[in-house]
Amino acid sequence: MGAAVSAGPDIVRYALDDGVRDVLAKELDDRLADAHLLDPDTDGAILATVGASALRQHLPCELVAELGGFRARQGSVLVLQNLPRHDAPPTPVGGFTPEAALAPVNALHLGLVRLLEATPFAVPYENRGRLMRNVVPNPAATGTTSSWGSDAEFFWHTDNPHLPFGEPGHDPRPYVPRHLAFLALRNSERVPTDVVGVDPVLARLAPAVREALTRPEFEIGAPASIKLGAPPPVRGAVLEHSGATARLRYDHGTTRGLTARAAAALDELAEALSGADAEQFVLRPGDFLFFDNYRVLHRRRAFTPGPKAGARWLRRCYAS
Ligand SMILES: [Fe+2]
Repeated sequence: MGAAVSAGPDIVRYALDDGVRDVLAKELDDRLADAHLLDPDTDGAILATVGASALRQHLPCELVAELGGFRARQGSVLVLQNLPRHDAPPTPVGGFTPEAALAPVNALHLGLVRLLEATPFAVPYENRGRLMRNVVPNPAATGTTSSWGSDAEFFWHTDNPHLPFGEPGHDPRPYVPRHLAFLALRNSERVPTDVVGVDPVLARLAPAVREALTRPEFEIGAPASIKLGAPPPVRGAVLEHSGATARLRYDHGTTRGLTARAAAALDELAEALSGADAEQFVLRPGDFLFFDNYRVLHRRRAFTPGPKAGARWLRRCYAS
């Protein structure tokens, strides 16, 4: 059994032993040896079933239990390291690649999402409606703050903050995605994914500023990855409370205050984020990162991509 290390009050981190990793890799390869046409958009349930079954067979029982209870406990961030690293095709810097070659990768990814008792989903107006987003340095996105960007810092943000907050048990697609699930295939550039909790950031703000963030005096636009067909910008609050839980939707580049009070509160929020004690994850091949998009903000610094075929490549899907 690998080490279970708490990296903070709200971060769960596990690392698999090499032996578990290797037997899991073989199990996935064996189960998918004759499967050449499994596509996550049409066969996602099959891939999730295969992956979850192999994971349940080989992961330590306490880790399976940890994953199964993570969302019910309102966990914010989970990192699972040293998962199988399957041979991957060249990094698809154009953004898309045939999914059939990635069946073991998708089974692992979707199997973990299933063990987390979450439902993966795509939205029709982004990523061509495909479930899996290839987070790669796409030359066409140079200069943009996008998951396909590289040279521009993608400041602290919520993914798709231009939508209303959703509630459990509803169709998740019209709402801010609740969870993001990343599986790293390559990151030789060692680009960190930074995560910061909403609560520690809010604690750095004066009560009057927090109150200003809850007023419907903001316009929150879509990110650069969404061009046509996106819902119009939300006009509403950046900060909302669901019971005692604070949830934030924010993208520095697309959020503006519609009043002087709101604009000043956004400046305070940006300053609080700049000084916040963030957690940095340099995801390595075989690392899985899952977080609550309502309860943490994330960021990716500018970086210089490696050669195209071996450039940074994370796989991401939304889950609710
Ligand atoms: Fe993002």
